Amino acid sequence: MAMEAPAAPHNAGDLELTVTSPDQMRELGRRLAKLLRAGDLLMLSGELGAGKTTLTRGLGEGMGVRGAVTSPTFVIARVHPSLGDGPPLVHVDAYRLSGGLDEMEDLDLDVSLPESVIVVEWGEGKVEELTEERLQVVIHRAVGDTTDEVRHVTVTGLGERWAAVDLSVLSA
Ligand SMILES: Nc1ncnc2c1ncn2[C@@H]1O[C@H](COP(=O)(O)OP(=O)(O)OP(=O)(O)O)[C@@H](O)[C@H]1O
Ligand SMILES: [Mg+2]
Repeated sequence: MAMEAPAAPHNAGDLELTVTSPDQMRELGRRLAKLLRAGDLLMLSGELGAGKTTLTRGLGEGMGVRGAVTSPTFVIARVHPSLGDGPPLVHVDAYRLSGGLDEMEDLDLDVSLPESVIVVEWGEGKVEELTEERLQVVIHRAVGDTTDEVRHVTVTGLGERWAAVDLSVLSA
């Protein structure tokens, strides 16, 4: 008898996408920007070089913020103020945060975190206990992709904030 793998647990609201180039990843970021508002937290997961910062670059473009988004590896967080009247984008590399995101309050970022859009790379184990409401994006390199440009992306909205948000606009 053939063995079938059990179906993975799947929220009705999850969105799964295949992204085939860095440009498409940026475009996904630009679309995500339309869904986000002040107070939102976006958690990006995926291995080194998965495309978390590339996605954030598109997000910054879509939000219309100042400054190019780059890898924040040598700073913990970088603030990109809005060029218009939108919220600032706070881009966090949590890799070097030993504790949780509450440590960010000590960084003196000169910005109100609850009034910002916060994007966190490497936030696993650090943001979960702080917020129940967040958008999670998991990016993985496609196995066996010889071009190394194909990524599988899963977007999951957690909490009341995301309950009624239609994520399918991201793939339109
Ligand atoms: N489909 C794709 N989406 C995103 N990036 C891609 C894709 N295909 C190739 N790349 C390349 O992969 C690299 C992704 O780098 P990026 O800095 O965005 O990753 P990261 O997940 O932020 O890594 P780190 O964990 O080091 O912060 C870039 O060089 C980019 O050009
Ligand atoms: Mg990065």
